[in-house]
Amino acid sequence: MSIGEEVILVVDFGSQYAHLIARRIRELKVYSEIVFPDITEKEIEKIAPKGIIFSGGPRSVYEKDAPLLTDDVFDYLIRKDIPILGICYGHQLIALKMGGNVKGEKKKEYGIATVDILDPEGIFNDLENKETVWMSHGDQVFELPPGFVITSKTDNSPIAAFRSTSKKIYGLQWHPEVVHTKNGQKILSNFVYNVCGCKGTWDLSDFIEENVSKIRNKVGSGKAVIALSGGIDSSVAAAVAEKAIGNRLYAVFVDHGLLRKGEAEVVSKAFSGHDINFKKIDAKKRFFDKLFGITDPEKKRMVIGEEFIRIFEEEAKKIGADFLVQGTIYPDIIESGRSQHADTIKSHHNVGGLPDSISFKEIIEPLRDLYKDEVREVGRRLGLPDKIIDQYPFPGPGLAVRITGPVTEENIRICREASSIVEEELEKASIENIWQAFAVTLEDKVVGVVGDQRKFGRIVALRIVESQDAMTANFKKLPWDVLEKISTRITNEVPEVVSVAYFISHKPPQTIEPC
Ligand code: XMP
Repeated sequence: MSIGEEVILVVDFGSQYAHLIARRIRELKVYSEIVFPDITEKEIEKIAPKGIIFSGGPRSVYEKDAPLLTDDVFDYLIRKDIPILGICYGHQLIALKMGGNVKGEKKKEYGIATVDILDPEGIFNDLENKETVWMSHGDQVFELPPGFVITSKTDNSPIAAFRSTSKKIYGLQWHPEVVHTKNGQKILSNFVYNVCGCKGTWDLSDFIEENVSKIRNKVGSGKAVIALSGGIDSSVAAAVAEKAIGNRLYAVFVDHGLLRKGEAEVVSKAFSGHDINFKKIDAKKRFFDKLFGITDPEKKRMVIGEEFIRIFEEEAKKIGADFLVQGTIYPDIIESGRSQHADTIKSHHNVGGLPDSISFKEIIEPLRDLYKDEVREVGRRLGLPDKIIDQYPFPGPGLAVRITGPVTEENIRICREASSIVEEELEKASIENIWQAFAVTLEDKVVGVVGDQRKFGRIVALRIVESQDAMTANFKKLPWDVLEKISTRITNEVPEVVSVAYFISHKPPQTIEPC
């Protein structure tokens, strides 16, 4: 199947759950894509979605500058009879656009609630009369638009859900995408299958085949360079590209001196058997010179992004390759603020950190529509070893974004040694469900006492999180004895360090990488 055949669009109105909606839809085997409120009628026409979901959002629909779809887009959706599901803010937006009314409530409704299902048609098919749902809203619809009926209510929200009697338009005040809504996935499934008429043909195997043939068509009889870091994304991208063009793929592994302990050896070993012309470039001096004195995280990312590209260009020139394959994944694009309305959280080195002028004919990104766990699944299906697939994700800019100060030998060494202790101890303790685990070298110093002597020493902070797709994350609630072991080993084995801290912030507000 082709991605374009069955698409559900999710309009992100600024909700932290917009990604969760898209993922839930993909779990239903229907491809879904996030778009932003500035999407145009023409763009929608080109995608020809089977349905569209309006996400929640932090604003009020009647606020000045609230993100609203244009009337043209809204009219287009109605004219073409494209099914719409509005969630929370999206529900209120439908009410506003269709002639109903929304108002702010003094008392916000937040958390688990029980709703009465009044009408089992469409999205409520097969639900109980009472359902447990998760609410999070300040505003609510208090006047139905003409031609709509109430389909659900709570004591606090008399119009907790509605639907149009003549069009496929549904609104929900609560969030079906979060696990606390017991039958949330059933509601989404009803929308996708019963209302939008999807067949559920999105499958990763088809995705692989489709991308393999796309790469073949693009590269033709030419050659391509793959930017291989040994991390999950670039390794999987390499496997897809290798399947497509075999030994006309040239893997360039840049050792920028910012790698994890032992990484260069592991990667060299893992890929040297492949038929992909593996070449390791020692570029440590080059990167350290360029990064000298820089502490601003975004500047670090820009410098690293540019330097990577220049090395790949130089190598491509030697080989005679016109194409660069990168392991960019969907969250890299979203976080780099590649949409007009999305804020730049951090410029991923391979997206926002790219220089303006590049001498490649084209950059090929076979994984750009996938979330990390989907990338892992593609890697498994292509037979990559567990060691590569199950490793902690490692950002292209490497340890440079795990030190809050300048890139110096000492800062990098502290980060590398302490992180390796973290990984070893977590493995020994068999702690499960960890998405990411490493140590951060902080710039501040604190007074310590070592062997009866004062020592004004360094601090490292541990970042260990659980996550599904890195768009949100929770700090891992580790047993104290494991934390104690890690702390003791770091202060004993990394001579500069006298203090170990633990980041106990989720994402949001803190991101996973510190810089
Ligand atoms: P953040 O820090 O944005 O990290 O919460 C989310 C996930 O993305 C990885 N990450 C990167 N990967 N280039 C990459 O290849 C980058 O510039 C980059 N920045 C963050 C990060 O390791 C985490 O898994």
